[in-house]
Amino acid sequence: MNRAVIDFLLARKSAPIDQMSGPGPTDEEIDLMMRIASRVPDHGRLAPWRFILYRGAARREIGDRLAELAVKLEGELPEMRLEKERTRFSRAPLVVGVVSIARDNPKIPQWEMFLSGGAAAMNLSLAAQAIGYGANWITNWYSDTAEGRAILGLKANERVVGFVHIGVVDGDFPDRPRPDWKTLYTDYSGPEAG
Ligand SMILES: Cc1cc2nc3c(=O)[nH]c(=O)nc-3n(C[C@H](O)[C@H](O)[C@H](O)COP(=O)(O)O)c2cc1C
Repeated sequence: MNRAVIDFLLARKSAPIDQMSGPGPTDEEIDLMMRIASRVPDHGRLAPWRFILYRGAARREIGDRLAELAVKLEGELPEMRLEKERTRFSRAPLVVGVVSIARDNPKIPQWEMFLSGGAAAMNLSLAAQAIGYGANWITNWYSDTAEGRAILGLKANERVVGFVHIGVVDGDFPDRPRPDWKTLYTDYSGPEAG
C-alpha cells in the first residue's frame, strides 16, 4: 500500500479562494498539471475536453466583462456586488477552465464525455494540491449563460466543467463535514421493481 498517497487522498480538501495568493504555478508546474489532468479515463480516446489558463491581466479584464454582463442581466447593482464580479478571476493567481467538448459519436454517449471532463478537473485539483498549492473547483452563474461562457473564451458547443482556482494558501483552513461513507454502500440486492 502506498500510505503517502492514501493519506494525501484522505486529507484532500478545497482551499478557500479568498485565502489564495501568489506566486502562481510556474510554467513547468502548469505543464505537469496539464499532463496529469489529461491522463484520465476517456471512453473511445476522444479527449473531449480542453483547458484554458487565466492568469495575469486577463483575470481582471474578464472580471470587468462579467460585471458588465451581470448589470445587463440583472440591472443596476450595488458597488459591493460589482466589485465581487470584477474580482471573480483575480483572487487566485491562476484559474484553469476545464472545458467539455461533447461531440456526436455513434457509440459513446455525451454523458460519458462530461464525466471524463469531471475526472480531468479532479485530476487537475489533485495535481495542484500534490505540488503544494490550494485548489478549488467552482462553476458559478457565468458558466450557465452563453454570454458568460463566451466571455470566458468558450465556443458555442462547449460547456464548463469547472474553473479550478489555484494558489498559495498559508496555514490550515477548516474542512467541510463529510458524508458518512458507511451509509453509502450496500451489497447488490437484485433489480428494482418498476
Ligand atoms: C461541478 C462543481 C461545481 C461547483 N461550483 C461551485 C460554485 O459555483 N460555487 C461554490 O461555492 N462551490 C462550488 N462547488 C463546490 C466547491 O468545489 C467546494 O468548495 C468543494 O466541493 C468543497 O469540497 P472539497 O473540500 O471536498 O473539495 C462546485 C463543485 C463542483 C464539483
